[in-house]
Amino acid sequence: MLGRSLVVALLSAALPFGAIGAEDVHSFANADAVRVTHVALDLDVSFEKKMLEGTATLDLERLDPNAAEVVLDSRDLGFGKVEVFTGGKWQAAEWKLGEAVESLGQPVTIRLPEGADKVRLTYHTSPEASGLQWLTPEQTAGKKHPFLFSQAQAIHARSFIPLQDSPGVRVTYEATIRTPKNLLAVMSANMEQDPKRDGEYHFEMPQAIPPYLIAIGVGDLHFKSMSKRTGVYAESYIVNASAKEFSDTEKMVEITEELYGPYRWGRYDILMLPPSFPFGGMENPRLSFITPTVVAGDKSLVSLIAHELAHSWSGNLITNATWRDLWLNEGFTTYLTYRIMEEAYGKSREQQEAVLGYQDIKDDLDSLSAEETVLNIALGQRDPDSVFSNIPYEKGALFLRELEYKVGRDNFDAFLRGYFDHFAFQSITTADFKTYLKEHLVEKHPGKLEWNRILTWIHEPGLPENHPVPQSDAFDRVAKIQQQWLEGKLEAKRIDVSGWTVHQWLYFLNTMPETLNADQMKTLDRTFKLTQTKNNEIAHSWLKIAIRNDYQPAFKRLDDYLVEIGRRKLIVPLYKDLMKTPEHAAFAQRVYAKARPGYHPLAQGTLDEVVGKP
Ligand code: BES
Ligand code: ZN
Repeated sequence: MLGRSLVVALLSAALPFGAIGAEDVHSFANADAVRVTHVALDLDVSFEKKMLEGTATLDLERLDPNAAEVVLDSRDLGFGKVEVFTGGKWQAAEWKLGEAVESLGQPVTIRLPEGADKVRLTYHTSPEASGLQWLTPEQTAGKKHPFLFSQAQAIHARSFIPLQDSPGVRVTYEATIRTPKNLLAVMSANMEQDPKRDGEYHFEMPQAIPPYLIAIGVGDLHFKSMSKRTGVYAESYIVNASAKEFSDTEKMVEITEELYGPYRWGRYDILMLPPSFPFGGMENPRLSFITPTVVAGDKSLVSLIAHELAHSWSGNLITNATWRDLWLNEGFTTYLTYRIMEEAYGKSREQQEAVLGYQDIKDDLDSLSAEETVLNIALGQRDPDSVFSNIPYEKGALFLRELEYKVGRDNFDAFLRGYFDHFAFQSITTADFKTYLKEHLVEKHPGKLEWNRILTWIHEPGLPENHPVPQSDAFDRVAKIQQQWLEGKLEAKRIDVSGWTVHQWLYFLNTMPETLNADQMKTLDRTFKLTQTKNNEIAHSWLKIAIRNDYQPAFKRLDDYLVEIGRRKLIVPLYKDLMKTPEHAAFAQRVYAKARPGYHPLAQGTLDEVVGKP
């Protein structure tokens, strides 16, 4: 990792990076001089070629009247004509494609004659585009139709659209998308509710968003309404189950509006992706992208919806200006998620989820370097994907929880509500947030907050002394029972698990000692049918235990699990654990060789490093 970032640093030292107020080192764009304000796409979706092909027309705003060129980001794009709109007509432009920089792609520099205020690029994507996954019909549940989806965060929009791919550059967008007939295209934009499936679809996003929120899905999609403004798009096998699982979505929107102000995006729909989606969810505006692995049948994993919905305030309305500020998106969103879950499902559920979140921080504090545990992380030019952790999420949320405890909930709610109004539709840095925090919270509540402690939370590694520690009575009961079982004082079959929540199961499993003997493993499995569990999170926790105790009866399930699911959070830790012994490593390599073609490029990238390229 270090070697790679060093190469990046050396390569890029010679390149002139455009500062955009907040200096985004992950973009080549000269957005401080010439800024893209609107993107118009006209694209054909070719499943045969695994390509998007067509044009991107970009509206430009000149901030520097003397600017003679616009610089865009791109990665693995093939270009045809590049034109500029000048003197009332389109003309061939002078342009060049710069050298590739690892993980950042290539700058596209287009000369701008005086007065030129639009550029148009004819281009196509590569079949290996890092921001797209192309699934063959066999890789989908229905087996009859192919599926395409994008995942642009953090720096992958440039692999399917040439644009200024920085979260500090907000654009409106529109698109015409042509697909094979019978397939439906959806995007993170206004779209027709129940369009004719004639293979041509139109989209419009009138609010300015960062480019990483431009998203597309194409497949044999069907729509099911959940409320006047919420619904689900999915392949038919899961459309009803999803609508049922997520039937509280409208209630969640109302709760969040009540707390933090109006939902400003019109509709809130959900797109169910194939199981290879590398994330749990992605907050694409108006249309969250969601993994099918959370459709558990009992709403136990719906905090994911609360999370992606909460991004409609923290993330999409107020956006991190650079990837070092990711905690402004994810920490606020995680805090909001806890608040939504408390309102929707009660204090006990919120407490259980908060304790699990706190355990995630603890695990990360044990495994990450000190610098990686800083909220306002010194990312440098490292690929944001390669430093992904729970820190911006759970440490960020814990910091906000402390602020809430210190000034009182009502005061903190009023502060947050003001914050969302104040910075609505802007991209901000950690420094911007600090300035606002000082004026609107710290100075408004004298004696309640210490500025130095706030700086420690934001800029120092680890957790400050006396930080809040989430507690759960429901978990304390499980801990006692687990202890008694481990000491042999309580038989497994005498444990009354009838009222246990999924979270209590996760706690029970995640806090098991490193080693369990063969007898204990067999007893747990026989009594609670853990290898067969249908809940993917419980399966994940159980499979981790099975791996470290070499519990062979679970390995067939492990094999299936790793082949069927591509969500990185669920599979990467299992592969990592498998790589710890030679026998398990051989198993991991065998399974990976089989599973890899079905994984998303991002998951492939991560796992090539963990397991080795087959
Ligand atoms: N925006 C993130 C996903 C993301 C973050 C993609 C950074 C690329 C770079 C999304 O909202 C998210 O946080 N997803 C989590 C959900 C969870 C914490 C509830 C995930 O996918 O696991
Ligand atoms: Zn998130």
